[in-house]
Amino acid sequence: MLARSRLIVALDVPDAATAMASAQRLQGSVGMFKVGLQLFVAEGPNVVRTLRQRFPEVDVFLDLKIHDIPNTMRGAIASARNLGARFVTVHAGSGVEHLKACVEEAGDDLGILAVTVLTSQDEQACKEAGHTRTAAELVEMRARCAAEAGCAGLVCSGQELERVNIAAPDLFKVVPGIRPAGSAVGDQKRVMTPAMAIERGATHLVVGRPIMKADDPAAAATQIVEEIASAL
Ligand code: C5P
Repeated sequence: MLARSRLIVALDVPDAATAMASAQRLQGSVGMFKVGLQLFVAEGPNVVRTLRQRFPEVDVFLDLKIHDIPNTMRGAIASARNLGARFVTVHAGSGVEHLKACVEEAGDDLGILAVTVLTSQDEQACKEAGHTRTAAELVEMRARCAAEAGCAGLVCSGQELERVNIAAPDLFKVVPGIRPAGSAVGDQKRVMTPAMAIERGATHLVVGRPIMKADDPAAAATQIVEEIASAL
């Protein structure tokens, strides 16, 4: 896999016009555009179709973090199937039966990525949510569920990669909470540099603000791709 194809940029912007302008600038420097809740709720499925039509070389990652009863998750995946996205996210905390329903519905072209524990959650947040296990233990358990259900991959922080490589060796490991040395952490808690995450086994990195808020987003993306390449 090319270094560039491992970089997913989060198009966390309010509208399609801003997303298309960012995509135009970034198309040669990244492997995938991530459409998350802000953009999807504002613009709906057409934004995914338009990205695919205008930038066919760049895959789309639909980050909906679906979490509901299996029948409803299945319905959401059925609707997502026709949009041309490469991946869609669902919450792994729902359990194997829920994940299996999503995998069955997705077919071959749409990969289900299971979100283990959000990278914005630290130990305190896990406790507040009623968990008695640590974030790392939860990630490992959910990675096993994702593998058992036949998911294409999982989303975890760089800090759990070693555990996850053992629990789910064949799955894609998609890692947000990426911060190049010296960049602002923001609301992320379990963060890591691009090079460290790749060295520990990440297959894809998700980067939002360090690229989107940079003075020159394409240059920031290129620098991260170079860091990925040197860590491979
Ligand atoms: O700006 P930043 O690099 O923190 O953006 C990270 C992106 O990855 C956001 O779009 C966020 O929704 C997403 N994400 C995450 N943690 C997860 C799954 C997705 O931060 N566990």
